[in-house]
Amino acid sequence: MLREIFLLECLSALIIVQLLQTSSASHNNQCNSSSCGKIPIISYPFRLKEDPKHCGDSSYELVCENNTASLYLNSNKYHVQAIDYLNFTIRFAGSALKNDSCSFPQYSLSRYNFYNNYPYSMYNLTKSEYFAELNWPITFMSCPYPVNSSLFLETSHCDNRFYASNASYSSTRRYTYVKVGDLNVSDVRDMCSIDLIVMTSWPFKDVNNISLSEIHGSLIYGFELSWYAGLRQFFPSVITA
Ligand SMILES: *[C@@H]1O[C@H](CO)[C@@H](O)[C@H](O)[C@H]1NC(C)=O
Ligand SMILES: *[C@@H]1O[C@H](CO)[C@@H](O)[C@H](O)[C@H]1NC(C)=O
Ligand SMILES: *[C@@H]1O[C@H](CO)[C@@H](O)[C@H](O)[C@H]1NC(C)=O
Ligand SMILES: *[C@@H]1O[C@H](CO)[C@@H](O)[C@H](O)[C@H]1NC(C)=O
Ligand SMILES: *[C@@H]1O[C@H](CO)[C@@H](O)[C@H](O)[C@H]1NC(C)=O
Ligand SMILES: *[C@@H]1O[C@H](CO)[C@@H](O)[C@H](O)[C@H]1NC(C)=O
Ligand SMILES: *[C@@H]1O[C@H](CO)[C@@H](O)[C@H](O)[C@H]1NC(C)=O
Ligand SMILES: *[C@@H]1O[C@H](CO)[C@@H](O)[C@H](O)[C@H]1NC(C)=O
Ligand SMILES: *[C@@H]1O[C@H](CO)[C@@H](O)[C@H](O)[C@H]1NC(C)=O
Repeated sequence: MLREIFLLECLSALIIVQLLQTSSASHNNQCNSSSCGKIPIISYPFRLKEDPKHCGDSSYELVCENNTASLYLNSNKYHVQAIDYLNFTIRFAGSALKNDSCSFPQYSLSRYNFYNNYPYSMYNLTKSEYFAELNWPITFMSCPYPVNSSLFLETSHCDNRFYASNASYSSTRRYTYVKVGDLNVSDVRDMCSIDLIVMTSWPFKDVNNISLSEIHGSLIYGFELSWYAGLRQFFPSVITA
């Protein structure tokens, strides 16, 4: 299944690359760029809700509130941290994160949410070898007993309810852990559960030696998505195949 999706991604990316230039040229019709807070230039394909209707692409509409640009991904709100028009990436961070190393995201958002989510891609498509990941996964796990593993950083001193949803939170799962980077299923011990998977594009120096405050910093920094593959919208048959 994953293999098939991967092949579809390859196919659509190839078609997109060919169409990209012609398409963006035709959309540059006399629109001034907008700005919002720390995002100085909001221009095609992005638009602000109050921009003239013909400007930007409605799939990339941002809202500017209190000098902060944001949008909804997977029904949850994310703040825009930066937009880079040269490498086609936009960086988002969860809107509810507080300045406290025990403040974690409340909702999962990982590569699994983006297989068919056309406006954005998880891959660095400016790279010659396609499908290089833009982000690290960060996995939050909880267990009914202490796990002594060098893979995980313990977060039990944090209030679990910062992130555990009602469904997975249980008073028996008192031991909580976090790990940056891919996780093997075999690393998840019996009776432990994965509570949340999020992502970050923070350039960690050494993923095997990370502090909780660095993880928190990476969550505030956010994750990058590419809109380079967004033209998949012109190929609905490829997407729904
Ligand atoms: C763009 O901005 C200039 C200067 O602010 C203004 O004169 C012009 O009408 C604007 N164009 C559009 C399409 O809004
Ligand atoms: C904007 O700021 C005001 C005052 O600080 C606050 O009451 C309001 O909830 C904020 N709105 C958003 C969308 O954050
Ligand atoms: C976050 O908290 C630290 C101390 O805990 C403080 O030094 C820093 O200025 C705070 N940052 C912001 C953006 O409030
Ligand atoms: C795009 O550019 C920004 C700013 O220079 C950089 O932080 C980001 O890592 C770049 N992303 C990619 C995919 O190259
Ligand atoms: C994406 O690919 C470009 C081109 O190879 C590279 O310069 C850039 O650093 C990559 N960005 C990330 C975040 O991996
Ligand atoms: C955890 O494992 C390390 C080595 O893997 C060992 O030295 C240490 O005693 C263990 N701690 C506990 C509490 O079991
Ligand atoms: C979680 O469960 C508690 C008690 O069962 C309930 O009061 C609370 O509203 C629930 N919270 C959410 C977000 O569903
Ligand atoms: C997963 O397990 C395989 C085989 O044990 C190992 O080669 C690989 O490095 C592991 N990956 C991670 C991310 O731990
Ligand atoms: C881990 O990082 C800390 C702080 O950056 C450093 O002092 C320490 O030597 C590192 N440990 C290893 C095993 O690399």
